[in-house]
Amino acid sequence: MLARVCDTVEVNPRDRAMTHEELLAAVRGRDGLLCLLTDTIDREILDAGRDLKGIANYAVGYDNIDIAAARELGIGVTNTPGVLTDATADMAWTLLMACARRIVASDPFVRSGRFEGWAPMLFVGADVTRRTLGIVGAGRIGTAVARRSVGFSMRVLYADPVAHPELEHAVGAVRVALETLLRESDFISLHVLLTTETRHLMGPAQFAMMKPTAILINTSRGPVIDEAALAVALREGKIAGAGLDVYENEPEVHPELLNCPNAVLAPHTGSATTETRTKMATMAAENLIAMLEGRTPPDLVT
Ligand code: GLV
Ligand code: GLV
Repeated sequence: MLARVCDTVEVNPRDRAMTHEELLAAVRGRDGLLCLLTDTIDREILDAGRDLKGIANYAVGYDNIDIAAARELGIGVTNTPGVLTDATADMAWTLLMACARRIVASDPFVRSGRFEGWAPMLFVGADVTRRTLGIVGAGRIGTAVARRSVGFSMRVLYADPVAHPELEHAVGAVRVALETLLRESDFISLHVLLTTETRHLMGPAQFAMMKPTAILINTSRGPVIDEAALAVALREGKIAGAGLDVYENEPEVHPELLNCPNAVLAPHTGSATTETRTKMATMAAENLIAMLEGRTPPDLVT
């Protein structure tokens, strides 16, 4: 799509994120940039790329881009909302069920020949049906996660700065303070943007409020959780489990989490389905082409 409208399209030839230096050199004198959530687009990169007519982020989250600086320089930024809502909600549920039924530990148990027959207490997990689901951040993805709970007859609580009457109507969700949600939920799923307000939203005080049987799911952004405190909470049994798709310092994972048998860990693959990644690519290209042609792109963030 881009090759049809651009004289030159330069593609990162390496199967890894570009370094800051490589990015600096790559944006100089270019008209457009299509970047990944692993590319930190800070003020220095934006200054070097001041000729950019637009930046299309291949992600719905855009905390990797200094939006204030882009705004000052008049460079438009777009994201890929909507197309990855269902895939990411599915991932939240995948992690939730995997934690509840201990499936990740079960698989190597069977493969290694340790399964010696049905036993009353073998890999006993937690019920999901009729339990309480807490949604932190009731935007598109949080709402999609809540909708999936209907088949499990769950009670749904949500915490959000604004009320979402459609969610209340659809699944009988009740808006509560975060503290109430933490105290009453059996499963808590995080769906907030990463901002200065949500950084370390979940820390020692919050884990202390949660039920010792509760399971925490994060498919949003890693720094929303104080990862060191989570490792302690899991080790000390302050909470029962965690299903994580994102980490505080990706691709690093807190070493203690790697040793927690009650954590299920995925490598930031929430939107990683063939269909969704194809839609994200198309959407990012459409947004960039609109900006290159001087039109308002469909998914302008700023
Ligand atoms: C993935 O994390 C995204 O923001 O699209
Ligand atoms: C389990 O397989 C049962 O029959 O209860």
